[in-house]
Amino acid sequence: MAEPRIERILGRRVWDSRGRPTVEAEIVLDNGVRGRAIAPAGASTGTHEAVELRDGGAAFDGLGVDRAVASVNGEIAAALGSMPIGDQRAIDRRLIELDGTPTKVRLGGNATIAVSMAALHAAAAAVGEPLWRMLAEGGTARLPMPMVQIFGGGAHAGRRVDIQDFLIIPVGATSFDEALTMAARVYQAAGKVMADRGRLRGVADEGGWWPEFTSNAEALDRLLEAIERAGLLPEDEIGIAIDVAASQFHGGGRYRLAVDGAELESEALIELLTGWCARYPIVSIEDPVAEDDDGGMTFFTSTLGHRIQIIGDDYLVTSAARVAAAAARGACNAVLLKPNQAGTVTETKAALAAARNAGWRTVVSARSGETEDVTIVHLAVGWNAGQLKVGSFARSERMAKWNEGLRIEAAMGTAGGFARWGTG
Ligand code: PGA
Ligand code: ZN
Repeated sequence: MAEPRIERILGRRVWDSRGRPTVEAEIVLDNGVRGRAIAPAGASTGTHEAVELRDGGAAFDGLGVDRAVASVNGEIAAALGSMPIGDQRAIDRRLIELDGTPTKVRLGGNATIAVSMAALHAAAAAVGEPLWRMLAEGGTARLPMPMVQIFGGGAHAGRRVDIQDFLIIPVGATSFDEALTMAARVYQAAGKVMADRGRLRGVADEGGWWPEFTSNAEALDRLLEAIERAGLLPEDEIGIAIDVAASQFHGGGRYRLAVDGAELESEALIELLTGWCARYPIVSIEDPVAEDDDGGMTFFTSTLGHRIQIIGDDYLVTSAARVAAAAARGACNAVLLKPNQAGTVTETKAALAAARNAGWRTVVSARSGETEDVTIVHLAVGWNAGQLKVGSFARSERMAKWNEGLRIEAAMGTAGGFARWGTG
């Protein structure tokens, strides 16, 4: 039987979890099989990541995606037409060459990632396999350890507090299902902790409780309280993670923590974070310093890298080259993998390979603007990434991902594995 080929590519505007326009791509093969995917969108984007092509102008505050949708329906559909669906690398290479810019600014990273992920889905459908299993290529596939946001902050909560994410990692869990059960308990307990203080104000962009706190550290106190109230053991069962997203409050060489009324140099910020690590059961910190603070990141890693996971998000932007360069200077020991930061699936996988090569851990991640698309869950399982960060434990664009993980775990049955904490 001849290998199925791409017959048509359809781009359309759909809407994300913030009610903003985003790009959906659908690929139709010559045997009638289809694959579909939707681009997510960040709010605290890194300077070096693939560019979301937005229309500008008055409509939708400039966030329209008509040009990116036109890229899909026009140039991309023409260039990829009749390519065999089984060669993802060739498809992505064609996308990269067609765009011709380092940051996908011409066609739009939102156009290229939607098409690239749609191609993956079409390829899996064509061979009649679940996507995660196709991605595993016969190797190990494991459910990832979830990293679950409990309080939102930073750019996702009107900058009510400076730190962007206060999260938990159910380090004591022995299955994905058990990990989510533990996360659910902490999430609900955190809601009660806030309600008891008269500070329940709904949820932030990724579903975490709105951060009505008097200081950044108070969020950590309340998180600890929520873990205990849920009847779980801090450290042994639940570890704390934070995404500082420090670029968001960095300027002129200084870090401005508005809720704490503090303006700090890099060393002082690192001292503050180091102090938190001594006081709280923190097992992971993301973007502790700004994306261009190489000295700070190397210093931070040399100070705490032997004890905790140090993730580069804005700092590494899912770039294999940036991962390799950071590893060479001793900055970070883990990478956040967001496919739309790279712009294609193949480049995302290259960043994962670079991280593995450096002996790092890998965390597949959603964006703050999401949809029902669950591709990243399959990437995390099929690539055996080890960890998955998709936001909090509320709002269906988040729950769609957690629930997809449960379906995959059930489908794997007893043969399935789970990336317990400390096993990569
Ligand atoms: P973003 O935030 O999607 O708004 O960039 C997520 C993160 O920083 O991890
Ligand atoms: Zn981040």
